[in-house]
Amino acid sequence: MIKVAILGYGTVGSGVFQIIKENKELITNKAGQEIDIKYVLDLREFPGDPCENVLVHDYNIILNDPEVEVIIEVMGGLKPSYDFVKSALEAGKSVCTSNKELVAKYGAELIKIAQQHNRNFLFEAAVGGGIPIIRPLNMHITADKICEITGILNGTTNYILTKMDKEGADFDSTLKQAQDLGYAERNPEADIEGYDAVRKIAILASLAKGKTVNFEEIYTEGISKITAEDFKYAKAMGRSIKLLGKCKNEDNQVVASVAPRLLAPDHPLFNVSGVVNGILVRGNMVGDLVFIGSGAGKLPTASAVVSDVVDSVRHLNVSTTVMWDEEKLELEDFSKSKK
Ligand code: HSE
Repeated sequence: MIKVAILGYGTVGSGVFQIIKENKELITNKAGQEIDIKYVLDLREFPGDPCENVLVHDYNIILNDPEVEVIIEVMGGLKPSYDFVKSALEAGKSVCTSNKELVAKYGAELIKIAQQHNRNFLFEAAVGGGIPIIRPLNMHITADKICEITGILNGTTNYILTKMDKEGADFDSTLKQAQDLGYAERNPEADIEGYDAVRKIAILASLAKGKTVNFEEIYTEGISKITAEDFKYAKAMGRSIKLLGKCKNEDNQVVASVAPRLLAPDHPLFNVSGVVNGILVRGNMVGDLVFIGSGAGKLPTASAVVSDVVDSVRHLNVSTTVMWDEEKLELEDFSKSKK
């Protein structure tokens, strides 16, 4: 039996708890042994909740417990996540996280620490929610030069753009609806200005190139200036408007961007609508691969996190963390590129 701890009992954390309990038998079979949640860390109390018996408020209890082999970080943000994750890896524990901010900023460093300890730092849920994309890029599409990755990487903005497209609605009222429905994160700016998507495309680009792509150097434009009028013009041209994260690798020059773009009906992502993500990966041998699915939400995101937990239990003392190194990749200037 493997003991794990969940850091953060919010939407994703409670989803992870639920999946490990509900799918216990099949997860035990896949992992090769039972996964037991020994601790849940959160500052809040959850009276009557199934997590109550294992709830702790002090991270050091988890860090200093040698029985805990895998830490599941689903708190989000950089503080205190970075310190918690780093110290866990240094203590020889594997870490699975859904935290794209953490991975985009400190990925290379944390990957290296995990490798040094023959442990895993896995983050399938950090990009594309429930869609398997990190593992395919890292473990499966390994015979190709990746020429292009194009993704609808943010469910909230895709929901807003889909609504504006279908209903002719304006941006502000559609954003409000998205917030009321609980799609938008606490700070809508991260979604609507492209800050969430840029971290995700930086992670995918880093994976594809094996070097660090700094998200701060990627041209980023969100959707807050898109109007109902823009959709009228797009429609007249038979196009849809999507917020796309793009990374292109042509003539050994890498260009990356996040921006709203017009898509023609024959584009594989044209019909990706609602709170859905879609990712097109173009390899120079395999051709086009398209991944579509739930890019956000409690159970899809938690499903990806638990798949990492299963992987890390299967490979307890072997690092499957290939990923990327700390060397920075020079990006071509977006303004001078062919885009
Ligand atoms: N706010 C994000 C989205 C959640 O809307 O896609 C998943 O990272």
